[in-house]
Amino acid sequence: MAKRWRNPFGAKRPASHQWRGVLNEYADRLDVTSKTPIISLGEGGTPLIYSPSLSARTGAKVYVKFEGMNPTGSFKDRGMTMAISKAVEHGAKAVICASTGNTSASAAAYAAYAGITAAVLVPEGKISMGKLSQAVAHDAQILQLQGNFDDCLDIARELADNYPIHLVNSVNNDRIEGQKTAAFEIVDVLGRAPDFHFIPVGNAGNYTAYHRGYREEIARGVTSVLPRMFGFQAEGSAPLVNGAPINNPETIATAIRIGKPASWDLAIAAHADSNGYFGAISDADILAAQKVLAAEVGVFAEPASAISVAGLLERAEAGVIPKDALCVLTVTGHGLKDPQWGLKRADGSEVSPLVVPVNADEIASVLGMSKGH
Ligand code: F0G
Repeated sequence: MAKRWRNPFGAKRPASHQWRGVLNEYADRLDVTSKTPIISLGEGGTPLIYSPSLSARTGAKVYVKFEGMNPTGSFKDRGMTMAISKAVEHGAKAVICASTGNTSASAAAYAAYAGITAAVLVPEGKISMGKLSQAVAHDAQILQLQGNFDDCLDIARELADNYPIHLVNSVNNDRIEGQKTAAFEIVDVLGRAPDFHFIPVGNAGNYTAYHRGYREEIARGVTSVLPRMFGFQAEGSAPLVNGAPINNPETIATAIRIGKPASWDLAIAAHADSNGYFGAISDADILAAQKVLAAEVGVFAEPASAISVAGLLERAEAGVIPKDALCVLTVTGHGLKDPQWGLKRADGSEVSPLVVPVNADEIASVLGMSKGH
């Protein structure tokens, strides 16, 4: 039975090969044995993009880890391949998660591949259309709760405690384990860990995961640098910045609209260990950063993901980032998840592309060009 899921290439890499997903690529650093079915859609191996524009704006050396390039369009796939593989290894027939959208899309896709049921609890009317559409397409059982994300997580935990259903939120350590592989990839590419790591924070699972990954790279002796973990929350949804949970989080960045981060204690420990920082960013600055990222770096990210850029620009402005410091920003999810924001100008007005006649000369004049080469 397990054989069905094994990597068809075997242990040896062919000279030219396709990225084999994080469980195969990092099997030696994860709890994966010959009994573990590899439920993979080829996640991980995402681009680490050097940005001349963000480097010029800040004086630092800035790289963007574009996690929107994962199979379901967000970093969640790294944790989900691990969580679903381990769930199936332990005989689970059904998984459940609470989600602001990306976790549910990912759980739905990986459960579909594994041939098990996914039930997802999402806050009613508060997840983006792209994410909802993914969960529907992958045939998950979707339940819109009349509450916020924090209520969804409470209920998902209660169900997993009392019924035969396996929880795949990041309170499940398998998720954090899978997600730490992003830090491995960064060290693989740069040959060392960065000085600073900028990342959006919702439940703070990913913040925790990168810190763990970097710590493990130091333990392996491949780098001596522990990046300062700089995490950012939306102003109306910033419990870790305020130092206390909040009941009614609000932000246009729905992915991180979370008032009671599940990984609170782990994140506080990672923050202390790395001389880290938690900062709050206004919705207006998040949208402005989304534009900078799309128009100057060529990376279209959903609003929550752009907070890494907003955080970098804010911290550079504050004079905290030394010249030439090596900075990595995690861009957690693709802009196509929530495409409505791409159609707006910085002032919030809608862009409606110009309609032109079928006439090259008229189009050239609209483009401000005169004839010639
Ligand atoms: N960025 C995106 C695009 C997310 O979807 C999330 C979390 C985060 C950042 C924050 O990561 O929770 O590990 O601190 N989304 C979860 C979900 C809550 O349900 O999809 P975190």
